[in-house]
Amino acid sequence: MSDKKQMRIALIGTGFMGRTHSNGYRRVPNFFPELAYEPVLQVVCSRNEAKVKAFAEQWGYASYETDWRKVLQRDDVDAVDICTPNDMHAEIAIAAAEAGKMVLCEKPLARTVAEGLKMVEAIEKAGVKNTVWYNYRRIPAVMLAKQIIDSGKLGKIYHYRANFLQDWTINENLTQGGGNWRMDVDSAGSGVTGDLLAHCIDTAMWLNGSIKDVSAVTETFVKERIHEKTGKMEKVGIDDACIFHCHFENGSLGLFESSRYARGHKALYTLEINGRNASIRWDLHDLNRLEYFDHSDESIVRGWRSIHVTDGDQPYMNKWWVPGLSVGYEHSFVHQVADFLKAVETGSECHPNFRDSLETQRVCEAVIESANTRAWKDTGVETELK
Ligand SMILES: NC(=O)c1ccc[n+]([C@@H]2O[C@H](COP(=O)([O-])OP(=O)(O)OC[C@H]3O[C@@H](n4cnc5c(N)ncnc54)[C@H](O)[C@@H]3O)[C@@H](O)[C@H]2O)c1
Repeated sequence: MSDKKQMRIALIGTGFMGRTHSNGYRRVPNFFPELAYEPVLQVVCSRNEAKVKAFAEQWGYASYETDWRKVLQRDDVDAVDICTPNDMHAEIAIAAAEAGKMVLCEKPLARTVAEGLKMVEAIEKAGVKNTVWYNYRRIPAVMLAKQIIDSGKLGKIYHYRANFLQDWTINENLTQGGGNWRMDVDSAGSGVTGDLLAHCIDTAMWLNGSIKDVSAVTETFVKERIHEKTGKMEKVGIDDACIFHCHFENGSLGLFESSRYARGHKALYTLEINGRNASIRWDLHDLNRLEYFDHSDESIVRGWRSIHVTDGDQPYMNKWWVPGLSVGYEHSFVHQVADFLKAVETGSECHPNFRDSLETQRVCEAVIESANTRAWKDTGVETELK
């Protein structure tokens, strides 16, 4: 029997993210034994009873519910983890905060800034611990990029470049709505901007400071698709692709591209930062490596080095195997759970919190507005992301 303090988790939504988070909760006690808290898989919720029961058995949840409102009424729940489509984030998060529960919410925080603002107000009024799962920050190589930038090694930064490319919606027969909620603007809020670029924007503003203004183009390549709700051909309201450029507060220029029509790419997230003295770049497909170019190296050996981020003194890596052995996508979620538990233990914030993620939402909304109006848009970002 463990003498640790328990954090009893209620997971809502049992799809892709429901699985990654459940795995995170299960791994943490084994790999972060020093933490005062341990997550307890108390209850899982989704609408289909047979499926949620099977999920509870598979992952070891003590109980299940089919109505998320019942979950919030339970006294045996400390934290609510929202893994539902985007249109349900606000309603669940606000109700959970009002019920005095801690809230871990999937990204994007909301569909709009107005929705996100209400969530921030509710969470701050309730004074409950909160975080948003922008998990790419917690890949060791990306965390190392942050350390290198903060150490000043890059010097003045001139350029920030990021891509997030996929190809899974090229098929014209794909429907919108239902299980394909990402294709339905009412459920998702936006297309690639909120789904994929939101990740790039969160990482970018965390690494390189606030984005001041944006100029964007978006395209919806397939204009009509059958809607699962009506069974009829309906207009597609999401952006299938988005390209924007921007000014950062620090004077650097940003260039971002995302598409679900980039044939051959499944989840190509890359970023590159060019400074006065050095540059770094990172690629999700080779996530344990950080490439680094330092102009102060002796000229005859100067070149891009490929740092294999697996050593014990590199971020998070003393928790895993031995130097040279790598980690994967799932570890970013384990790290986020561990950091959340640590924040609760020490009374600190687990960034990105709701307020940080509202700033990312502001940029997403400015991007869509800029594309719709064909004009530059100020983002209105108020606080630097931590
Ligand atoms: N951090 C990341 O890298 C990342 C990756 C994928 C998705 N996401 C985000 O996670 C969220 C979920 O995405 P997903 O890919 O897991 O979606 P998904 O479609 O795989 O799963 C959604 C789940 O929500 C459940 N659900 C829907 N309505 C519900 C209701 N009324 N009550 C209870 N459960 C309900 C569904 O049954 C399903 O289990 C989205 O906000 C998405 O943007 C984040």
